[in-house]
Amino acid sequence: MAYSGIGKSSSIGKHIWIYPVIERALRLSGLKSGDKTVILTDVNRSQSIFDAFYAAAGNICNGVFAVVQRPLSGAHDEKSREPDGVILELLKQCDFIVDLPTTHWCYTRAYNEVLDAGVKVLLSCSDEELLHRLAPDEAVIRRTRKAANLLTQGKMLRITSALGTELTMSVDGRVGNAQCGAIGEGYRWDNFPSGLTEIAPIETSLHGRLVIAPGDLIIELERRIAEPISCTIENGEIVAIEGGVDARNLRAWFDQWDDRAVRTVAHTGFGTDPRATLFSSEAMDWESYDGGINLAFGANCSRFLGGRNMARAHIDIILLNCDFYVDQTRLVRAGKTLLID
Ligand SMILES: [Fe+2]
Repeated sequence: MAYSGIGKSSSIGKHIWIYPVIERALRLSGLKSGDKTVILTDVNRSQSIFDAFYAAAGNICNGVFAVVQRPLSGAHDEKSREPDGVILELLKQCDFIVDLPTTHWCYTRAYNEVLDAGVKVLLSCSDEELLHRLAPDEAVIRRTRKAANLLTQGKMLRITSALGTELTMSVDGRVGNAQCGAIGEGYRWDNFPSGLTEIAPIETSLHGRLVIAPGDLIIELERRIAEPISCTIENGEIVAIEGGVDARNLRAWFDQWDDRAVRTVAHTGFGTDPRATLFSSEAMDWESYDGGINLAFGANCSRFLGGRNMARAHIDIILLNCDFYVDQTRLVRAGKTLLID
């Protein structure tokens, strides 16, 4: 008989423990005393996390409202993935939203409407342990912004690996996004916690071969890959997926959406947080992992990415041990970040 689970369901004061970290993230994100603020969540989210955000926001500003909705679901182009119209109107009229969903909605038209209304949105989907362990950090923020600036200055990106990945794409005219865990000066959106940079390539410009190697991660499949998956990419779109069981799973994931736009490149970049680990099941650990290259397909029409692809779904692949070049400059060598410190 095992006793290790005793007490796990009745944690004492979790929201009190996480409160200072959250208050700091909100202050770093520019939340001010006069801001009308909505804490937006759903019935499946942890109460201790909601309590901590509500209390921390209330300590900074007076006008804090809580909105608890049904869990969002479905494809990014379905109404079921968006808040109800009445809630949406309220969101567009406030100054700051703390978005605490169990299923994010940041690739919907409604999300863009809210950001276009000038509202700041701080998304947070992680558990207490990760919020604490990857709390906003000055060094991570600095290196993430530096990396995003380098992406913005580039024209062509190239990703290579010893196993045979050889990809090129254009980012000419696109702007690199720094996801730092707190909304920076001049920005309207961030995801707490995170340490990563990303940019939306010109959607038709990605060409070459992608080899997803054993140990690489696919977030939407919630797994590390056990055997190589070879993908052929033409004009920005995955046209063939070959390999064993993992390849079959990935093909089935794409097939379920019956939407070519889901097979089109969404964003690439790399993790910048040395505190992030792969020994957890948290998406933001995987995406923030220092030197892990993100390559995503599907929707990228969010304001923070500035892409053009409206798609029913989005999938994030994290490639380890790869090289990442901006024009002739290598920013990641065999999974290790360069030139951003
Ligand atoms: Fe993504």
